[in-house]
Amino acid sequence: MSKAKVLLFYQDPSFAEFVSVHIEANFPLEVLCVNIPDKFHGYISDPSVKFCMTDHDIRTGGGRLFYLANKNGKKRPFFFLCTSEEDDTDKSLAFFFKDSKKHHAVFLHSLDEDLTSLFGKNYKEIVYAKENIEALKDKEISNLIRVRIHHILKLEKVNGDVYVKLPSGKYIKMFNSGDEVRKDTVQNMLEKGVKFLYQAREDYQEIADKVMENLKSKLSEKSLSTGEKIKLQLASVKQVQDTVKNMGINDSAIELTDEIVNSVQDVLKDSKNIWKLVSNLLKNKSYFFTRTSIQNYLLGGLVQEMGWDSHATLKKLVYASVFCDFGFTDNQKHLAEILVCESDEFRKLASIEKEIIKGHPRRAVELLKSKGGFLTDEISIIEQHHEKPDGSGFPRGIDFKHIPPMSAAFILTYDFTQTLMETSNVPDKNICIRVLDSLGSDYSKVNFEKPFHAFKTALKL
Ligand SMILES: [Fe+2]
Repeated sequence: MSKAKVLLFYQDPSFAEFVSVHIEANFPLEVLCVNIPDKFHGYISDPSVKFCMTDHDIRTGGGRLFYLANKNGKKRPFFFLCTSEEDDTDKSLAFFFKDSKKHHAVFLHSLDEDLTSLFGKNYKEIVYAKENIEALKDKEISNLIRVRIHHILKLEKVNGDVYVKLPSGKYIKMFNSGDEVRKDTVQNMLEKGVKFLYQAREDYQEIADKVMENLKSKLSEKSLSTGEKIKLQLASVKQVQDTVKNMGINDSAIELTDEIVNSVQDVLKDSKNIWKLVSNLLKNKSYFFTRTSIQNYLLGGLVQEMGWDSHATLKKLVYASVFCDFGFTDNQKHLAEILVCESDEFRKLASIEKEIIKGHPRRAVELLKSKGGFLTDEISIIEQHHEKPDGSGFPRGIDFKHIPPMSAAFILTYDFTQTLMETSNVPDKNICIRVLDSLGSDYSKVNFEKPFHAFKTALKL
């Protein structure tokens, strides 16, 4: 497929150079620069042209011809360069804004912001690709890695220098190692839309390792109450998922995940009422990592009823639940929540988003295989976690005859948890039964049959 293009009809060559270099360096777009009407007529019906842009006055002469050629043809979003703020409110330009909501005035002084938001509104592919380009640039330029600004906001003091990235791409130091975090400064940046600050890789790794070791030792304390254990499990799942996304898998993440398995098993030994545990966890349901924790308990109850309750089996399933969706970035949580490709929410997505969803199980598997330390069973559960008993799932579209029982147990609890979280804030048993019914009778057939009945027994439904 040829690259999406911007057709730029220019009068000022230095503007054309500036804009085309800027766009091609920052977006996955190619710029076709033309300066005589004959040339834009040659390109105007090219299907790979997605946007039109000009610095000509679109009310007269060649600028008007270019504007009309687009209006009478493919009606692409049209960006008109304004030289002063007054142009934007000039009444003689009313026709331009009225013709399409996708038409916009852009200003040279805010070209990057304007174009990012305009391209993004029209093509999600461009936003995702831009994010990737930014991430790659960060990697190439320095040893600095992105740290979510919320994370810094929670700290009293910073371990290691913290940097902020300027729109020019340069980094400036915001805090020195050991500085107290000035909450109002950070909060201010957050309100202005800054999502990430930057730290040296070693500093971040050191902090993450310390946090994970601390959580691990707290989780292993025998005197904790069930409530304290659950809180620590939630924090641990979140920490492992965050760190692994930033840094990849290392020993501390694996050791903490092992401790989560022990702690889940511990809580299950003490509590006979899984339903109560799940209801408590649902109070935190807005958090992505809550899904993992709820599923861990449902899996724990299910494996006990299946007679699979060895530590090794629960460990495989909990590992799959912690790592199955780590092929998504933080900005793609809304995609991680989509279960069914036949749903309306899926159909409404841009094609790149559909590809991201369909590719995430295999992406996670590739990443995990490259790190080593994962067993074949965990890898295949993760690869199969979006297959469906009726064969409508992905990536392979296998059905209940070909999905092994352990993956079937995982799929049942994964789909149940997600649907339950979407259904109710304070679910009772009736809602729970309705959610289970809504999954469909295929979830209780062939290889799903035993896990399904074990699940019902575990939840006393
Ligand atoms: Fe998933």
